[in-house]
Amino acid sequence: MNKAITILKDEHRSLSAVLSGLKDLARMAQEATERPDFRVFRAMLRYIDEYPERQHHPKEDRYLFARLLARAPSAQPLIDKLQAEHVDGVRRIRELERSLLFLEDRWPVGAREFRQLVDDYSRFHWDHMRREEDELLPLAVLQLDAADWDAIEKAFAGNADPIADLREKDFQALFSRIASLAPAPVGLGEPWNKSA
Ligand SMILES: [Fe+2]
Ligand SMILES: [Fe+2]
Repeated sequence: MNKAITILKDEHRSLSAVLSGLKDLARMAQEATERPDFRVFRAMLRYIDEYPERQHHPKEDRYLFARLLARAPSAQPLIDKLQAEHVDGVRRIRELERSLLFLEDRWPVGAREFRQLVDDYSRFHWDHMRREEDELLPLAVLQLDAADWDAIEKAFAGNADPIADLREKDFQALFSRIASLAPAPVGLGEPWNKSA
């Protein structure tokens, strides 16, 4: 497997891990008898909001999608759909943030609605990633040549963008913070009844 595809799939795995943790914690917030520590929810939403926006989607849009479209114009409807999902994802995150603010203010009121939005968002984002991996990547493997992959690999590895590497480190630090704040079994943090 080429390096660009490995990086893209690794980024999908990191996002999936945070989404899976968020789903578990949204359920725990609904079932909790002690007030949850909301810092972990804020850190997770920030990760899910900013990582795709600043790190992941720009690489897909600018390098992978653009190169594929140049080689295979018939990929236009699929790429249009994926890019529309990139835009819709931002709207859905704003909805989640509003729901989290309400929940922090009124917990346990709003816990059911927040959990529902988290479940809907997770399903949406998983479908999006699956479409990229099952439909777009096989097409790219067929259509792109070695020079295309070379250019995409350089962009995906951060070599084409001097600040990409710094951003990558920011998100690694945020990912560690999420793991240290989230209570077991999701992460390594204190139970909510001790830390809240
Ligand atoms: Fe995407
Ligand atoms: Fe993606």
